[in-house]
Amino acid sequence: MSFNIDFFTQELRTRKEYIENCLEKFLGDESRNPVLIHQAMHYAVLNGGKRLRPIMVLEGARIAGGKVESVIPTACAIEMIHSYSLVHDDLPAMDDDDFRRGQPTCHKVFGEANAILTGDALLTGAFEVMADNALIDGIELKDVVRVIREVAHAAGSQGMIGGQVLDLAGEDQTVAYFLSVLHGLKTGELFKASLRAGAILNRMDEAGLEALTQFGHNFGLAFQITDDILDVTGDQSLIGKPVGSDEKNVRTTYISLFGVEGAKEKAQESVQACLESLAVFGSEADFLRDLAWFTLYRTS
Ligand code: IPE
Ligand code: IPE
Ligand code: MG
Ligand code: MG
Ligand code: MG
Repeated sequence: MSFNIDFFTQELRTRKEYIENCLEKFLGDESRNPVLIHQAMHYAVLNGGKRLRPIMVLEGARIAGGKVESVIPTACAIEMIHSYSLVHDDLPAMDDDDFRRGQPTCHKVFGEANAILTGDALLTGAFEVMADNALIDGIELKDVVRVIREVAHAAGSQGMIGGQVLDLAGEDQTVAYFLSVLHGLKTGELFKASLRAGAILNRMDEAGLEALTQFGHNFGLAFQITDDILDVTGDQSLIGKPVGSDEKNVRTTYISLFGVEGAKEKAQESVQACLESLAVFGSEADFLRDLAWFTLYRTS
């Protein structure tokens, strides 16, 4: 393994800055009327996330042999959907958390009703932005429609929202299978859709798409297991959100089932599965291999 955490962290930072410049453009002028909602949307999105999902959209495009510039609207749209999910996840009716990405949560600053509307506006706005991907040279309309359908599915009742519902309902469930389904939906579906979106828009073949799908699923597991670990062992000043949120909300997590050490083993198994998923690719998938390793070392 040639993974170098410092080198890779710098690479992630460069890509994150690139995405953030694009996001500002797609969110538009925050002084437009009604000013409040546009300010809240900016607050919820341009606040220091890791930007892993848009990075994956760009990477899907690159692995498919395309240009990263060809998928920027879709990358930004998926980050808008992810940011909306965090605004709603933090609401008092859900995880009731006061900090996100190192700042007071959206509802703490703008009030609960406006935070709900901010999430709504980001989710719907994301589909407007995604449709704009059709305006980019070389992108086929039928591929844009396929991506919009897949992203909607991934974000919806059989994807992320389905996972969130299981999460809320899951206090008395303790089977590992349930948890892997929950993590797969809650977190894996959007990663999967991100990679596939960039690749579909650049006409990757079905075998390649299937490999990315497997990777996205396994990466979602590894990522959510490490999210659960950081919820117990993390440093709030680094993760930017409260430690102990899952315990406060009596969530079933890999920690509550297997303990911290057991959860670390499960995370490693998922990373191995990520690497196996990429067997059909050569060195063009090295960034994704490093991204999988990165989950085991991440502190935020
Ligand atoms: C947090 O996602 C929510 C989960 C699905 C675990 P991230 O850890 O990617 O959050 P940001 O975007 O970097 O803030
Ligand atoms: C939320 O999971 C995943 C979403 C779909 C938003 P968590 O509740 O564990 O995410 P954090 O820890 O608050 O970021
Ligand atoms: Mg939650
Ligand atoms: Mg939460
Ligand atoms: Mg969490």
